[in-house]
Amino acid sequence: MTAAYKSIVDRFATSIRDGRVPAGTRLPTHRALAREHRIALATASRVYAELAAMGLVAGEPGRGTFVRDQRGHDGVEPSRRLPVPRIADLSFNQPLAAEQTSQLRHALRELSTSGNLEAVLHQQPPGGRSRERAIVATHLLDRGIDVPPARVLLANGAQQALDAVLTATTRPGDVIAVDALTYPGFALLAAAHSLEIAPIPSGAAGPDLQALDRLCAARPVRAIYTIPTVHNPLGWTLDRPTRERLVAIARARDAWIIEDGTYAFLDEAPPLPVQALAPERTFYVASLSKNVATGLRFGFLVAPGAHEQQIVRSLRTSTWGVSGLITALATGWIADGTVARLEKTRRDDATERQQIARAAFRQLDYTAHPSSYFGWLRLPPDLRADQAASHLADVGILVTTADAFASTDHAPHALRLALATPAIDQLADVLERVSRTVDSMPR
Ligand SMILES: Cc1ncc(COP(=O)(O)O)c(C=O)c1O
Repeated sequence: MTAAYKSIVDRFATSIRDGRVPAGTRLPTHRALAREHRIALATASRVYAELAAMGLVAGEPGRGTFVRDQRGHDGVEPSRRLPVPRIADLSFNQPLAAEQTSQLRHALRELSTSGNLEAVLHQQPPGGRSRERAIVATHLLDRGIDVPPARVLLANGAQQALDAVLTATTRPGDVIAVDALTYPGFALLAAAHSLEIAPIPSGAAGPDLQALDRLCAARPVRAIYTIPTVHNPLGWTLDRPTRERLVAIARARDAWIIEDGTYAFLDEAPPLPVQALAPERTFYVASLSKNVATGLRFGFLVAPGAHEQQIVRSLRTSTWGVSGLITALATGWIADGTVARLEKTRRDDATERQQIARAAFRQLDYTAHPSSYFGWLRLPPDLRADQAASHLADVGILVTTADAFASTDHAPHALRLALATPAIDQLADVLERVSRTVDSMPR
């Protein structure tokens, strides 16, 4: 049976990859496939599940199974094969201000002549050195998180911090509630930790908390992963009463809260972090990837007291410690005000870009935080996201389709557009092209 089923998967995969079964083709129903190959219905479903896991087909409720277009951007691990020279990459935000290279040169020069240079060659304690943790504690205080330096742990980016939190709080098979659309890196971590993801449906401006409560009543939810400020990808910032309701649910159901503050700096005046409302059960994670540079790999976290030692153990297990060179640069930039200046520059730049985007997409269903670097473009009901991505790739524009962000089996037909990379004087033109391309797609 296994051999027969595998060979059906292989035959489909080959004919999709070599183009004999073109993108957009509706494949036979599960029942028809079972009949045609004389296999059980469950086996036919497994064939399609495997092809979906390979990224070759996508099932759509009530409509059938379709061959995905392979030429567009493929989310977390992009293939980035473009048929024409690239005009714009709207698939990834890597904002860098013009002055940052000279800032780096200056900081390295200063470091090279500082009396403490040798310290960067020494092994760092897992979680970071106390002087540097104190600088991050002050940075967090500006964000409404009031903890002593000893409670701040340094990591190689928010992703490693999230990994350490999951190591400390979960066991394989645990259920974690996450937004139906969320940061794709979290799904990678959940899979690596063998966790079950339970999607929280989205409401108009945040998660549907009644649905979350029902979910927690029905399943033993170990933790809730949330991005309350400048949600990636939907851009919402939850107001204080919503944060309080989220905390009340977590308390009543005894679930941990994992709060991701990586993009929070883009909101100039957000409500208090969830961590400040429920310090006893919230793990707060953030980094300097979005406000300074993605390549820096500098993150930090605050954990409820009882979990700190487990987190330190996990950080030590994965990398022994953080790099002294990176922590010296990063904390130097926090302490001398460079980070605060870059954050302001970014907010102003992102606000301008969102105004351009809103004008370009006035005829379409576009949602974004007014000072964020990304937006969510819901496609008209008769258009498919993978085909839109493919049409855009044909004109040299890379975008990400909703499935990269979806924690549900079926992703909505929408595109996530990252606005930071194109030069600002070209952005209107690029986004008008996106709008025209979507408009002109065959229905
Ligand atoms: C919401 C969110 N959290 C965490 C990360 C990962 O950040 P880092 O580069 O610090 O690992 C990202 C990166 O895109 C993100 O969007």
